[in-house]
Amino acid sequence: MDENSKGREHWATRAGFVLAAAGSAIGLGNIWRFPYMTGEHGGAAFIVIYLIAILLLGYPLIVNEIILGRASQRDPVGAFRALAPNSPWWLVGGLAVFTGFIILSYYAVVAGWSLAYVYKVVIATQSPGIDHASVFTHHITSVWEPIAWQALFMALTVGIIAAGVVKGIQRWVTILMPILFVLLIILIIRSVTLPGAGAGLAYYLKPDFSEVTGRTLLGAISQAFFSLSLGMGALITYGSYLNSKDEIPGNAAYVVGLDTLVALLAGLALFPAIFALGFEPGAGPGLVFITLPAVFAQMPLGGIFGVLFFFLLGIAALTSAISLLEVVTAWLIDEKGWRRRNAAIFMGLLIFIVGLPATLGYSVFKDFSFPALGTDLLDTYDWFANSILLPLGGILSAIFAGYIWGIKNAVHEANKGGAFFRLGRGWAFLIRYIVPVLIVIIMAVGIYDSFFK
Ligand code: PFF
Repeated sequence: MDENSKGREHWATRAGFVLAAAGSAIGLGNIWRFPYMTGEHGGAAFIVIYLIAILLLGYPLIVNEIILGRASQRDPVGAFRALAPNSPWWLVGGLAVFTGFIILSYYAVVAGWSLAYVYKVVIATQSPGIDHASVFTHHITSVWEPIAWQALFMALTVGIIAAGVVKGIQRWVTILMPILFVLLIILIIRSVTLPGAGAGLAYYLKPDFSEVTGRTLLGAISQAFFSLSLGMGALITYGSYLNSKDEIPGNAAYVVGLDTLVALLAGLALFPAIFALGFEPGAGPGLVFITLPAVFAQMPLGGIFGVLFFFLLGIAALTSAISLLEVVTAWLIDEKGWRRRNAAIFMGLLIFIVGLPATLGYSVFKDFSFPALGTDLLDTYDWFANSILLPLGGILSAIFAGYIWGIKNAVHEANKGGAFFRLGRGWAFLIRYIVPVLIVIIMAVGIYDSFFK
């Protein structure tokens, strides 16, 4: 990043913003969460609803967050304060910081599983006839090992945010993420050529809307928000490092397109294999950790591919975790005057501690569960953050731009800096009417169904 005359850092190149935003968006959400949500909600029908949610809610809201950041040149709390002084709207920024805190607390747990699988996948692929589901269960039900990996992942995230070496990380990511992409393609080829893959392809591609409920709809919007890093100020923060010459509508579309593509590819790598190898599509958060080692076991050099894959998944998770911790840390720095290093370490430690019950939800705390809110504690954290907090952040930021800051200002801001295409009435209509109304309805039926059905 470069400093401009006012002293705020800005992305050094046009690609800087897109890379950081894509790095935030692409992560465990695409490769771990998207497939298991699809499997829990019946396959292709979920995907169709997800894609509609991306178009009607995801894209408009991504643009909205980026312009709130750029117009204000502030962190989320400061952004609302700057655009609506002397009003309680800064609380929406506060909600965003809280949400980032909760998400990172359990995100690090799953990222830790991925790191552990960098070597577990070798054992799994080298032992013929091994039960892949029990390898996973054994890992998450032990006490100290998952905690150690979670701690390592948090330490890496804190280290990067404290040192501010995001630029170096970005250089590596541009090299590493294309490799992850190629690995996904290789996995897809192996997966669809397994005998019996056809049933999985049909499940993934032929929608059956008969099972769609309010929970499916809420699941699809929660996935859209989570995957696009929406509703918690990550994009306000990243947008605040843009200047008025930067293009927004096209870059936002690029990030949305890339994120969606990676999720769809991950599903295509998994579902044919799930059906061919006799796994359960509704297996929940363990799905990718159970299915993929079994696919690697069916490939020449599978162990090596497996190691590479889980390592790269860990890196993808790291670039997302960075954006989560950056929001929380930036708040302590900007609003409370902390030093960056202290803020990152303090928050990292607190987030690690808050995440411990989620890690231990499969062992020590396995009897604590809230059936309406997920199958275990990690699932409960996830439900609360993604089905409640993120959509709430989305509605409030849309209402803010549409009615408080003013839609004219918003449209003007979105098109500033030369656009590949211009946003106008259509986008304004989505932000003012469709986004708030649709989210309220879906949250209402989704929550009702979760508790009373
Ligand atoms: N988008 C990330 C993923 O799909 O893994 C997760 C995430 C990152 C959510 C940053 C929210 C956020 F602010």
